[in-house]
Amino acid sequence: PADDVAEFYLKAQKSTKSFLDGVETESYGYNGDYLGPVIQVQKGEQVKVHIKNELGDEETTVHWHGLEVPGSADGGPHNAIKPNEIFSPSFTITQPAATLWYHPHPLHKTGEQVYKGLAGLFYIEDEVSNRLNIPKSYGENDFPIVIQDRNLREDGQLSYDLNMMSLMHGMHGDTPLVNGVFDPYLEVPQGKVRLRLLNGSNARIFQLKLSKDNHFWQIASDGGFLEKPVKMDQIVLGPAERAEMIVDFSQYKQGDKVQLFDQDVRLMNFIIGTPEKEKFEIPDQLTTIEKINPPSGTVTRTFAFQGMGNSVNINGKQMDMNRIDEEVQLNATEIWEITNIDNGMMGGMGMPHPFHPHGVQFQILERNGKEPPENEQGWKDTILLMPGDKVKTIATFKKDGVFMYHCHILEHEDAGMMGQFEVN
Ligand code: C2O
Ligand code: CU
Ligand code: CU
Repeated sequence: PADDVAEFYLKAQKSTKSFLDGVETESYGYNGDYLGPVIQVQKGEQVKVHIKNELGDEETTVHWHGLEVPGSADGGPHNAIKPNEIFSPSFTITQPAATLWYHPHPLHKTGEQVYKGLAGLFYIEDEVSNRLNIPKSYGENDFPIVIQDRNLREDGQLSYDLNMMSLMHGMHGDTPLVNGVFDPYLEVPQGKVRLRLLNGSNARIFQLKLSKDNHFWQIASDGGFLEKPVKMDQIVLGPAERAEMIVDFSQYKQGDKVQLFDQDVRLMNFIIGTPEKEKFEIPDQLTTIEKINPPSGTVTRTFAFQGMGNSVNINGKQMDMNRIDEEVQLNATEIWEITNIDNGMMGGMGMPHPFHPHGVQFQILERNGKEPPENEQGWKDTILLMPGDKVKTIATFKKDGVFMYHCHILEHEDAGMMGQFEVN
């Protein structure tokens, strides 16, 4: 029945926003001037989203990054929404609690539309996230932290100029934004706080750490909770990767300032407020993750990421809408081995490439021949490959349809570092 469906409305629109004092910047946003609302759903829920394209004269799509949905409900380049049209996909949430996100995916235009502001977070909650005694009050002790870099210095506009540099390395900017704000302040309770981090940049890799030698506990990776919290001093997030962190601010005095840095660039400031109302411990165990074991006769596919600038490719091929690169059987478990071929030797540039397949969460069997680090032992949908890296992933393909796999440096993706797989 219709009243059991959770309905959401997204309007992709043009707007203006003041990022830097005294400058009005032309921007894109969902239902607002930059970025979009946080969509929150429960596991098991039926969801319907009405997406309206009000961008004027360009097509767009909305892709559910990390969500396990059929290809027909996903906004890959096939599901282009024409100007002034509405697309209303519906789907059921069948995966565990996680911090996912959504963003446009039109052919050759993903980088530009995301850069101008189209992206938002998508939270799934379930019996585990509802039961765990961790911070979960949105905007009080549980904060979305979307980190991006943009070029606003010259004329204050988000002009998307592809040149040799940005084509090669992806679009980088000198102005860091958190939730669309430059160098923001956030008052946090004097206690434990949950940060849902998304690297929403087009190409930059963030190396995040807190000031005052503070550390954090990572509790979730892209696709949901880790089995156990992992204590860390810093975390590296490639484009599109997420991590949920718990930070303990109880050791500071009211009014103290703790900052979040990307290497030595300050991203934001936490101001310690009043003591937390609820008491949280860092749980010993968060959830259990059943390890996917490769059944005998498991299909193994290999993907080689290589090339530079306009010639970036996967297995020697560039994206072709009329070609399906891989055929996968519905419900099959497969091993995908991804290699970043260009190791910077032999005259190459040694480019990082974050690998991402649509419609599926995977586990990592090996990173460079070894067991992956603890914080990569949960569900992942994006995995950063530095030059020469080789990663062995395993996944069960539970949704049917046509899906993309690609490099999540959006300028590489738009240049053709993308392929299609069909599950049926
Ligand atoms: Cu964020 Cu095709 O992905
Ligand atoms: Cu995606
Ligand atoms: Cu790449």
